[in-house]
Amino acid sequence: MGTFAVIGAGTMGSGIAQVAARAGFQVVLRDVAPEYLDRGLATIRSSLERDVKKERLTVAQLEEILARIRPTTELAEVAGAEIVVEAIIENFEAKAALFRELDALTPPETVLATNTSSISITRIAATTKRPAQVIGMHFMNPVPVMPLVEVIRGCATSESTANYVLELGARLGKTCLMANDFPGFVSNRILMPMLNEAMFALYEGVATREAIDGIMKLGMNHPMGPLTLADFIGLDVCLAILDVLYEGFGDPKYRACPLLRQYVAAGWLGRKTGRGFYEY
Ligand code: CAA
Repeated sequence: MGTFAVIGAGTMGSGIAQVAARAGFQVVLRDVAPEYLDRGLATIRSSLERDVKKERLTVAQLEEILARIRPTTELAEVAGAEIVVEAIIENFEAKAALFRELDALTPPETVLATNTSSISITRIAATTKRPAQVIGMHFMNPVPVMPLVEVIRGCATSESTANYVLELGARLGKTCLMANDFPGFVSNRILMPMLNEAMFALYEGVATREAIDGIMKLGMNHPMGPLTLADFIGLDVCLAILDVLYEGFGDPKYRACPLLRQYVAAGWLGRKTGRGFYEY
């Protein structure tokens, strides 16, 4: 197997690196500072340890998987990879700067994928000289558990790039489903209005947070209630995606709930800050 490069060792990047290493790829995991890499590798180890406890993986296999991941702060180390998956912050300027660097560093045939949940693939692709080799690979959190990769074709993405990514997804043990490049793609166009509606229900006093979540869990068989899920995703991320939908479609049905905006302003971003719709 070839080399699989992941840029960004946060929640999504470390999960993607874990899945690729487990599938047998040599992985280069790049982040800007050693402490981010250490944190990412610790997350990978503890996720794999769950499988050791359940006897789905031996300790030796866990060590082999970890040994296939090479952490680095040097972007140039991704140069020999067959695929580069970007999982840095959800900010167009940051992604554009990175894609310009990747475009200069890697051979023109290397596929450059982005894990963005809401930024236009077409716009990111247009910052490079190879828009045909740029594509969206939207993994779901927690990456090792969720079977889906939403694959998004930009305006210029070639058939062969799309086919390569579909085949790559299968090698990772994931199911790839295709979407075209419109705001929120499919996943967040459908998920975010539901989470937003749950927030409006809380805001308008229709029910308590526990009742809203319980109704959706027990009544619709959702694994998490919508407010718990929003906290899990991150309220800043939810707000950013809703704003993309609102601006992209110009339709008031995507207007973010004022309670969400207020919580984000307060720094209550969900599980990661210890407070969101719940306390952690
Ligand atoms: N690494 C490895 N395994 C993990 C894990 C992790 N980080 N987190 C959970 N698991 C495993 C557990 O070990 C357990 O495995 P078994 O069933 O084989 O024993 C299984 O997942 C279930 O976990 P738990 O029993 O601990 O808890 P749970 O039943 O509540 O499941 C959950 C946890 C999988 C996160 C579940 O609550 C769930 O599916 N929630 C919804 C997640 C979701 O909707 N994700 C998408 C978010 S949207 C997104 O990511 C995209 C975006 O753009 C915003």
